[in-house]
Amino acid sequence: MAQKNPDSCFQNPKYAGFSPALDDAYRLIDSALIYYQGQIVGTVASTDHTAPAVNYSDCFVRDFFSAGLIMLLEGRADIVRAFLHVIMQLRGQQEALEGQQIAPGVLPASFRVHRDADGEETIIADFGDRAIGRVAPVDSMMWWAALLRAYVRYTGDEAFAHTPEIQRMLRMILSLCLQSRFEVFPTLLVPDGSFMIDRRMGVNGHPLEIQALFDMTLCCADLLVPEEGSQWLIDLAHRRRVVLRQYLQRYYWLDMDVLNRIYRFSTEMFGEDVENLFNIYPESIPEWLPEWLPDGAGYFVGNLGPGRVDFRFFSQGNLLMLVSDLALPEQVKGLMNLIDLRWNDLIGRMPMKLVYPAIKTHEWRLITGSDPKNIPLSYHNGGNWPVLIWPFVAAAIKAGRYDMASRAWAEAEERLLKDNWPEYYDGRTGRLVGRRSNVRQVWSATGLLLARHFLDEPDVLNRLGFAPQPPDDPELMGAQWTPQGTQHGGPR
Ligand code: GLC
Repeated sequence: MAQKNPDSCFQNPKYAGFSPALDDAYRLIDSALIYYQGQIVGTVASTDHTAPAVNYSDCFVRDFFSAGLIMLLEGRADIVRAFLHVIMQLRGQQEALEGQQIAPGVLPASFRVHRDADGEETIIADFGDRAIGRVAPVDSMMWWAALLRAYVRYTGDEAFAHTPEIQRMLRMILSLCLQSRFEVFPTLLVPDGSFMIDRRMGVNGHPLEIQALFDMTLCCADLLVPEEGSQWLIDLAHRRRVVLRQYLQRYYWLDMDVLNRIYRFSTEMFGEDVENLFNIYPESIPEWLPEWLPDGAGYFVGNLGPGRVDFRFFSQGNLLMLVSDLALPEQVKGLMNLIDLRWNDLIGRMPMKLVYPAIKTHEWRLITGSDPKNIPLSYHNGGNWPVLIWPFVAAAIKAGRYDMASRAWAEAEERLLKDNWPEYYDGRTGRLVGRRSNVRQVWSATGLLLARHFLDEPDVLNRLGFAPQPPDDPELMGAQWTPQGTQHGGPR
């Protein structure tokens, strides 16, 4: 066993001495801690002092999720609680933009602790008002809620969830997500760059990742105390989950049968019982797809809206669909088959490709706005992201594909230490360290460590709240979304 680090934030560094890579992962996490009023409240995104953007020394809410789960598993639930608390307090910090009313419930993408000459500490948060490209962090409130739920499930500390501040915060998040705007779909409408892909990448509309996170957020309604002011929200969240799940399973799923139907779609169909609900033109099927999609395999498409299917494969969204039990059993099987049969394209030499395929040529110019960080096969446009190892391992374990989970983990472990924990890799199979990638990227280390926990003790997934949570209202179980309202009957 390696020597226990006396300065470690972990009371129980479970994997100390397990391998040089995990020893270094612990060192990296310890060196990344952020303190506020003497308490650890988060981790910086990267400890690389030559990082290309100053906000890598911020604590990002989405980046902290995997760190937070490890802290729960290794005896530091107090840090998770402090993090949840600090983020919640930042809510009121954002100044309204001219002519806009800022919705309560929006949480910052990231924060930092500023210390002045007298040692006075202030927290500075970024609600998208400082970030490159001024992107709205829609996913922050969702990761926050999911971490809160994992904290409560794992520690049993319901009293924390029942404090008036947490109850208020949860009500604000849920009402923000459930408010009806100009929409007829059960999915959530968001602007471009509003989640992990925080740049222009043509992911505005109804991206899959946001929908999976939306479902995780709706699950948090079970933390609300049923009383006069919140019962309506609990009921609404419950009903929305039912239609959201079925809508995703029915309309986002793509396999060879579905593709064949789209290929022969009639268009311009008006009325109630039409097959081509979104007026998808067969001509929009991209050339690469029919040859790439194997038999007996499938995935959830990246985005869906009027006249639009984004056929790209987005890993995080697909994996979260499995992690949060949103897929039907045959879809779980089909998705794992796809990853298995297209291993080189999707996993390659570093799990896992963020999106497949990369967009190129004039399409790249149009969609990214000629963003040089997102050149084809790099960064958010087809780069391989080590942090995706944890949702991949979690999804594979849930699908009973332990073999795939351990194979991917072994590949990542070896290279991450050697390359000093890059943020992302480039190239067709991810063999190159990302051209503008940071090193000592904290979620690359927490992703690997968390995945190790899942591999060795798969049951922790249930204890963290990733157990199946099907909506249990028999009245609603057969419900289906239609443009006219909810109808009853079996799926498909
Ligand atoms: C980049 C990533 C974003 C991440 C941040 C900090 O901006 O696109 O997903 O949260 O870096 O690591």
